Amino acid sequence: MKVTLASAAHLALLAALHDACFEEAWDEGALAALLATPGAFALVMTDEAEEPAGFVIGRAAAGECEMLSLGVVPEARRRGLGRHLVTAFAGHARKLAADELFLEVAEDNYAARALYAAAGFTQVGRRAGYYRSAASVRAALVLRASPHF
Ligand SMILES: CC(C)(COP(=O)(O)OP(=O)(O)OC[C@H]1O[C@@H](n2cnc3c(N)ncnc32)[C@H](O)[C@@H]1OP(=O)(O)O)[C@@H](O)C(=O)NCCC(=O)NCCS
Repeated sequence: MKVTLASAAHLALLAALHDACFEEAWDEGALAALLATPGAFALVMTDEAEEPAGFVIGRAAAGECEMLSLGVVPEARRRGLGRHLVTAFAGHARKLAADELFLEVAEDNYAARALYAAAGFTQVGRRAGYYRSAASVRAALVLRASPHF
């Protein structure tokens, strides 16, 4: 598994990975605008066959690093790639001098919650009605961890 810091050359790939992982995809324009904001970064990960298989997007500011999105393509799940991405995210956050990691996860996203709990994230807040779609309204849990794990 190889993790690469994304550049503008990775925008199409990032958009494709995001589309494969989420119902509401972020297009190249949205990703470019996000990554142009101060402190924002994306890491792209390949699997054992060197195929692009996952990504994480974060933003660091004032000693904190927020995970904005993370996904592993469906065909590569349950092989440890998600765990590897969280570790890579923490490592990059440390390089950016972050002392705390934060993220939001849907309360009913049990796979992601298990992944984050295993990485040492604990709940520090809950935002009712945070995720809204035509089909559902779901709460977000705010999780925090140290990047020094
Ligand atoms: C959540 C996600 C990133 C996990 O990626 P993954 O590569 O399958 O995760 P890993 O194989 O590294 O799993 C690590 C641990 O997470 C937990 N986990 C992962 N998927 C799980 C599932 N479907 N059910 C229960 N626990 C799960 C387990 O504790 C697992 O450890 P184990 O395999 O030793 O039991 C992936 O399912 C995904 O991309 N989902 C869609 C996008 C998403 O929800 N992103 C998070 C938004 S906050």
